[in-house]
Amino acid sequence: MAEDGLASLPLVAGLFRQSSWGRQSPQDFTWFEILLPYENFDGLQSEGVADTMALENHSRELDIARSVAAQAGVVLLEYQQRGFTIREKGTSDLVSEADVSAEKLILDCLGEAFPDHVVLAEESRTELQGTSIPEHLWVVDPLDGTTNFAHGIPHFAVSIAYYRNGAAECGVVYNPARNDWYIVARGAGAWFQNERMQVGSQQTLTDCLVGLGFYYDRGTMMEATLATIHQLFQTGIHGIRRFGTAALDLAHVARGFYGAYFEYQLSPWDFAAGRLLVEEAGGRVTTASGEELGLCKGSVLASNGFLHPKMLEIIQQTAGQLFCSGASPQ
Ligand code: IPD
Ligand code: CA
Ligand code: CA
Repeated sequence: MAEDGLASLPLVAGLFRQSSWGRQSPQDFTWFEILLPYENFDGLQSEGVADTMALENHSRELDIARSVAAQAGVVLLEYQQRGFTIREKGTSDLVSEADVSAEKLILDCLGEAFPDHVVLAEESRTELQGTSIPEHLWVVDPLDGTTNFAHGIPHFAVSIAYYRNGAAECGVVYNPARNDWYIVARGAGAWFQNERMQVGSQQTLTDCLVGLGFYYDRGTMMEATLATIHQLFQTGIHGIRRFGTAALDLAHVARGFYGAYFEYQLSPWDFAAGRLLVEEAGGRVTTASGEELGLCKGSVLASNGFLHPKMLEIIQQTAGQLFCSGASPQ
């Protein structure tokens, strides 16, 4: 189905329970009803404050990113508690009121703090003009993991990155439901709460968990991802994880939870902050064909560095056709 194909069809979560509860109108339902098990999130933050000292006062950009992420986190948690409407942007690609409100808050705050900076943000569908990258660029995903959020799973994040002249300078990935802060600045390390992160030291895939994501495609890309999973299991890995929030998946590589993580199609807002977390934690991030990762939509492979060559080899064998000219997802 084409993007925006269902744009005029607002869905409400409770709709999924319509038949069992015998209600007539989608408007009778709110997400609140299915989110009760998670009603008592303990992550509610005081507005405008990151609950960690890591990298405090490193730069104005990072301080603002932390403050804005904290405020956006409050918005997301409020929606979780009071309910929200949701619709599909494309097949299985959800967007909620919470995504839109959190993004508006972030754009307003960044616009006020840095009026001459450019912001690339998911829900505004902003696009970079031409081939030149702005000197000051913010890349924002107000709610990464919308599908988790929509189903009441407290594994989602606000992701904000600041790029100068095309290079990632600093960023935050914040899961407000768990009050988990991942903060990073180029040359100053990647931090989880107040601890500096270091990627894992596994030299072979045999000792690893591998994280991955599926794009919303249910065709070639999904089949290629499944083929890669199959091959990975042949190597004797400890397991595969698919948690549904790319920014947190990258944070998990930085923290050493995953030896590697890949996804065959991501947007810049999914990976802009997370890739710097991995790099500053000592890991490596490229496209799934081993090229430098730019700010385009495309594939991502992140690893502790040691596992990169083996991951590239497996991806080439199982999904190489995706990265040939004409069929490339990038
Ligand atoms: C999605 C999540 C998911 C990944 C998808 C992304 P969204 O972002 O990061 O883990 O597999 O490819 O689009 O839509 O929740 O912001
Ligand atoms: Ca995302
Ligand atoms: Ca998003």
